Amino acid sequence: MTVLDAGLYVHLPYCASRCGYCAFVVTTDGSSRDRYLAAIEREAGLLEEEAAESAFDSVYLGGGTPSLLPGPAVDRLLANLRSRFHVTDGAEVTLEANPEDVTAEALAAWRDAGVNRVSVGVQSLEDRELRAVGRRHDAAKALEALENLTTSGLSVSGDLILGLPEQTPESFRRSVAALCDAGVAHISVYLLEGEKSKTIEEDRRLRPERYPSDDLQAELWGEMSGDLARRGFAHYEISNWARPGREARHNRKYWSRTPTLGLGVSAHELWGGRRRGNVGNIEAYIAQVEAGRRPLAFDLPVPPEEVAREEIFLGLRVAEGIPAARIEAFIVAAEDVRLWNDYETWTAEGILEHRGERVRFTERGFLISNEVLSRFV
Ligand SMILES: C[S@@+](CC[C@H](N)C(=O)[O-])C[C@H]1O[C@@H](n2cnc3c(N)ncnc32)[C@H](O)[C@@H]1O
Ligand code: SF4
Repeated sequence: MTVLDAGLYVHLPYCASRCGYCAFVVTTDGSSRDRYLAAIEREAGLLEEEAAESAFDSVYLGGGTPSLLPGPAVDRLLANLRSRFHVTDGAEVTLEANPEDVTAEALAAWRDAGVNRVSVGVQSLEDRELRAVGRRHDAAKALEALENLTTSGLSVSGDLILGLPEQTPESFRRSVAALCDAGVAHISVYLLEGEKSKTIEEDRRLRPERYPSDDLQAELWGEMSGDLARRGFAHYEISNWARPGREARHNRKYWSRTPTLGLGVSAHELWGGRRRGNVGNIEAYIAQVEAGRRPLAFDLPVPPEEVAREEIFLGLRVAEGIPAARIEAFIVAAEDVRLWNDYETWTAEGILEHRGERVRFTERGFLISNEVLSRFV
């Protein structure tokens, strides 16, 4: 198979501590790290042949906390990936960083290793909220990290979370404004997925007054979207805003079903018409790779009706939406009268809108997109 715009994801699960809300596959025990990095290199070797005809124009080091790796380890990892895969000269190479790891030394090492984009887990620029979820940085540290990154010429993205304990309308507005003022080119805002973390779920049940309600979150989301638009950020995907031309090339591939490979524990991929996912246990991952096989937990072909479904629920996530004919053909083929009626209602109520031959979410529609998308999952 030949893909000329493929993406490569690498999961690095090591963290200095676990944040209260996080449900990703992570560990605070670094003792397996060197064996893990060797396993990643070995797994890359197992995929080398399959990807020999393809070119990768994006690499994403995600986590966990990739910024916790020593600079030379990042350099070695990226050099190894370049030796296995054809990573194009202008490839977007992103590293996820926690603010406290952004030192002048680390920054220089990442640049030398070929990283050209850093996605910083800011989450909030209010100390009370950061403390409430056990972050290791405070607002001043995050602003210092952003300043160092933006002045270094790297492309910088910042993540915020809406729905944090102790968050108020004013504090959220302040975080959004301060992140914009820090000069980032890209912003991701996630709604707190409290149900993914036992700590948060329990706390929200016992002390609901600490959390902004769903209605308040919806209101703040809408307000923020208008604010970001006025500040020159285009809302190009449900949770993502970018200055012109600064959209995340790698993440876009997930929504357009462009083939990507995924290395590391719990990594997923879409390749050769198959969806594959690695095991979620670090020791099992290392053991299987050391035994010379890919540590797959599943490896499934995507049948045509599934492709059609994916094109809808992934394609609708982006601002340009999808051809209306595609969604209409899907509903007709499914013979789902209720879904057709809902589709007409969504359009009549301004949740979806038709633009030329395409259909897409309106800004208001993005707010309740989960409800609509879940009908296609
Ligand atoms: C894979 S995490 C890793 C980022 C990095 N280690 C950090 O903590 O800054 C990427 C982003 O997912 C978001 N995230 C993680 N858990 C979340 C949750 N339960 N609800 C909403 N967003 C979450 C955070 O904004 C985080 O920056
Ligand atoms: S949010 Fe980031 S630092 Fe915190 S546990 Fe999750 S991956 Fe690790």
